[in-house]
Amino acid sequence: MAVDIERLMADDRRRVDARLEALFTRREAPAPRLEAAMRHGVMVGGKRLRPVLAYAAGRALGASDASLDAPAMAVELVHAYSLVHDDLPAMDDDDVRRGQPTVHRAYDEATAILSGDALQTLAFEVLAHTRPARLPAMVTTLASAAGRDGMAAGQALDLEAVGGHPNLATLATMHRHKTGALIRAAVRLGGLVAVAEDDPRLQALEAYAAAIGLAFQIRDDVLDVTGDTAVLGKPSGADAARAKPTYPTLLGLEGADAKARALVDEAVTALAPLGESGYVLASLARYMIERDH
Ligand code: IPE
Ligand code: IPE
Ligand code: MG
Ligand code: MG
Ligand code: MG
Repeated sequence: MAVDIERLMADDRRRVDARLEALFTRREAPAPRLEAAMRHGVMVGGKRLRPVLAYAAGRALGASDASLDAPAMAVELVHAYSLVHDDLPAMDDDDVRRGQPTVHRAYDEATAILSGDALQTLAFEVLAHTRPARLPAMVTTLASAAGRDGMAAGQALDLEAVGGHPNLATLATMHRHKTGALIRAAVRLGGLVAVAEDDPRLQALEAYAAAIGLAFQIRDDVLDVTGDTAVLGKPSGADAARAKPTYPTLLGLEGADAKARALVDEAVTALAPLGESGYVLASLARYMIERDH
């Protein structure tokens, strides 16, 4: 079976973008500047990989596209919030994101903080309004992936690690939290649309997502060294400039690449219980480490 992964991604990106855009078209917002900053944080660029993964995971288990829209949007809203806060002066202090000024640059720092807060709560509103069959499980999945057991924990570890020399296990823990958790949530949310929590195929998806989640951040670290700022849409060399420990600093570029490749193999192997329906997810796993931005 051949799948045109670029085309599938472009179609899903269009689909979720249309629905996300609709969140920002209301005529009267109590705080228009906050609303504009939120829109900037979400709508200006982005690969939409987490929505793409949610759609692919859900479809693999038989969910309809329409039933996957809300989880796909919700996970991207949480991701967008995480980027707005990640770029703040108190965190990575970056001026460019997705080829545009970061939210605190385009607006101001307080507005960026608030827009991140509001994007996060909007994510749960979007999820709750659609009342998917397994709403409690979905809320738990997304909340724990974003919070103290997930992304926020990883970001705290990331900031503590600046200038330090963590070992590989510590670095993996940091990456699995700051980036892996939300990628796992994207896949699980898609799966939960289709099947109940005790379905063994969710475990296969979980093993898949854990592997690609780490591979994704390793690739992000590698691209920070080898990537082109214009293509990345964010400054390359930013990790080195801030003395961030990364996979390339610990393993070298080739070692980091090899680790990412091994993780993708692991991810593809984990899909075996899905048979033919795991094909798109397998292609997406390969994309994770072949991407140039
Ligand atoms: C960037 O994520 C931040 C990380 C978790 C590494 P993406 O590379 O998915 O960023 P966008 O959404 O495409 O801008
Ligand atoms: C970000 O990791 C992880 C998030 C939770 C946003 P990075 O700090 O490496 O992401 P980029 O490189 O700024 O996109
Ligand atoms: Mg960061
Ligand atoms: Mg950053
Ligand atoms: Mg990075």
